[in-house]
Parts: sequence; structure tokens; C-alpha cells
Amino acid sequence: MQERVVAVVGATGAVGREMLRVLEERRFPVRELRAFASSRSVGSTVTFAGQPVTVRGLDAQAFDGVDVALFSAGAERARDWAPVAARAGAVVVDNSSAFRMHPDAPLVVPEVNPEMLAAHRGIIANPNCSTIQMVVALRPLRELFGLRRIVVSTYQSVSGTGARAIQELDRTSRQFMAGEPETREVYPRPIAFDVLPQVADFDAFGHTTEENKMRDETRKIFGDERIIVHATCVRVPVFRSHSEAVVAETERPVDFDALRAAFRAAPGIVLRDVASEYPMAREAAGRDEVFVGRLRGTADDPCVVSMWVVSDNLRKGAATNAVQIAELLQSRAAFAGKGDAWPHRS
Ligand SMILES: NC(=O)c1ccc[n+]([C@@H]2O[C@H](COP(=O)([O-])OP(=O)(O)OC[C@H]3O[C@@H](n4cnc5c(N)ncnc54)[C@H](OP(=O)(O)O)[C@@H]3O)[C@@H](O)[C@H]2O)c1
Repeated sequence: MQERVVAVVGATGAVGREMLRVLEERRFPVRELRAFASSRSVGSTVTFAGQPVTVRGLDAQAFDGVDVALFSAGAERARDWAPVAARAGAVVVDNSSAFRMHPDAPLVVPEVNPEMLAAHRGIIANPNCSTIQMVVALRPLRELFGLRRIVVSTYQSVSGTGARAIQELDRTSRQFMAGEPETREVYPRPIAFDVLPQVADFDAFGHTTEENKMRDETRKIFGDERIIVHATCVRVPVFRSHSEAVVAETERPVDFDALRAAFRAAPGIVLRDVASEYPMAREAAGRDEVFVGRLRGTADDPCVVSMWVVSDNLRKGAATNAVQIAELLQSRAAFAGKGDAWPHRS
């Protein structure tokens, strides 16, 4: 198997560190690993395969000779540097929102729409963490019974906001317990011992950008603009793993025996459907699967399914999905440079 030169951009962040771990665990064939982060981290080290790797800053030569560049450094850095990497001949897998809705960037979840990869032109987008686990869980339902509408409420962990948010929950929880003033830097309202019905910013209609992402990305991944997605995204004081209460309306009446069998056979899904054995965030942490529980219908409507969906946002919601995409490219020997599609940013 041909070994690859792999760049991780944002290697010191919550997702980047997980990427290093996942590359190692899944034995991705790495010949050379390059770690990039902001000027704050240049010269520090991260660990890959038991070895220290010195963190570098991005520059014009950063991607020379790189086969695959896994980006998790935010949308602004992706807009600036992913085209540079693509033009240098690397295939970029970007975790930010920068390219997700770009018509030339496939938005891929390997268990759901791997066929979209074939159309890549050097930049592939990883969906939002909340979207990934939901579409993995909904794929078997959609294939069997069609999908018209999704109403979803999320219970998202703070690691979804990154390393500083993890520290904020830890610090403000201690301050709250000690009766001290809470020092907030990341969230607009308290997150310790509270529930925050705002993930990202509001649009003119009162939806948050996270809620809009869940709608737009779901439609792109399933290739169906007619699916109605109504999301309420909520941040909860949990360190890791997002939970989602999903209510789906199908096109045809649901046969629950067939649905359970499809869930059991589906790659990447663990069905935990015995009443009290529902999945929870802490047990999903560090795992790559999407856990489905509380599966049920309603006597009022044969086309409605409710379920509880839990997955580790840093793993399947980000790092694992990105590395799975790299594995697919590797298996198809699809690391050919196609970066000419991406113009220089003025
Ligand atoms: N957390 C999740 O569950 C999740 C899931 C899906 C997608 N994402 C996306 O993944 C990205 C990273 O998220 P995160 O949670 O890992 O955030 P994070 O913990 O804040 O990490 C951000 C990373 O970006 C680096 N960075 C910042 N400015 C940079 C610059 N100018 N040049 C190079 N590197 C720079 C940081 O380096 P320093 O350490 O030097 O500051 C750090 O390594 C975001 O786009 C996020 O939307 C996150």
C-alpha cells in the first residue's frame, strides 16, 4: 500500500488532536505527518505514532508534496489555505463550513453518500457534526420508507465549540460550585449547570446558523431539496458527544421490524433499542459509531418515527469522518491533484 504525506491543519485543536489519534488507530499509511497551527503554537509539539511532531505555521510551501490535507482550523483559514493546498496537488478534507455548500465541493459521509467523492476537484467538505450523526441514522429509514420531514432537537456538547469551550465548562462549573463569579469567554450565556438554546448566531428569521446548516447539509447529502428540516440546536453542559431527539416523517408507512433489521445491518450504527438501554453521551465518547435508541412510532400516524441518536462529535462528527474519506480516496488511489478548479483568493 502506498504511504502518504499527510498534513493536519489545526493539529493542536480539539478536532486536530483527535485526527492524529484516529489516523494512528486506523493505521492510515502515513509516510510523513506535517502538523500546522496558529503562530501561538509554532514550535510546540504534538504526538503522532509515539513521536513528537513540531508544529509549523502555514506558508506558501506548506503543502508541497502533500497527498492529503485534513483541515480543522476554522472557515477563515480554510478559505485562505485549502485552495493553496489543492493547487499544490493535495486533496483537502475540510471540517469547517467554508466549502460545505460550494457546488464544486462534495459533502461526504462515507456511510451515506460515498459516490459523491468521485466528483471531487481537490476540496472535499466534512459536514457539521450534528448533521453527520443524524444522516447516518436516517439513511436506513429513508432508503426503506422515504423521508419528507425531520424535526430535530439537539443536545450538543461543549467540545463541539473547541478547546476553549471545554475549558469554559470546566472552569465555570468549578466557579459556580464555589460561589464565585463565572468568567465566560466563549458562550453568550452561562453553560455550567444550564441549557443554552443557541448554537452559533441568529439569522433574520430567528434560526441559528447551526440550525440552517442541519437543513442545508442534509438536503445536499441526500440530494433532495424537498426534505423539510426543522432543527432546534441546544448546547448542554456535557463535555463530549452530541445527543439528538429526531422525529422523522416518512413517505410510506413504517414497518418497524424491517427498520430494526436495517439498523442492525447498517454500517456505523449501533441499535440500542431495549427500553432502558438507550445510548448516552458519556458512553458514546471515544467511539466511532452512531448510537440509536428510543426507537418508536405513534399510533396516530404510521409515517412517523422518533429516535434518540448519540455520537461523539469529535470522532464520527469530525475526525473519524475525515479519515474515512481519506481511506476511501486511498482505496481508489484518488489523490490526483485537481486543484486548478480553485482560483487564488484576492
Ligand atoms: N469540535 C467539533 O466537534 C467539530 C466538529 C466538526 C467540525 N468542527 C470544525 O473544525 C474546526 C476546528 O474546530 P475545533 O473544535 O478543533 O477548534 P479548536 O479546538 O479551537 O482548534 C482550532 C485549531 O485551529 C488552529 N488555528 C487557529 N488559527 C489558525 C491559523 N491562523 N493558522 C493555522 N491554524 C490555526 C488552532 O491553533 P492554535 O492551537 O495554535 O490556536 C487549533 O489547532 C472548526 O472549523 C470547527 O467548526 C469542529
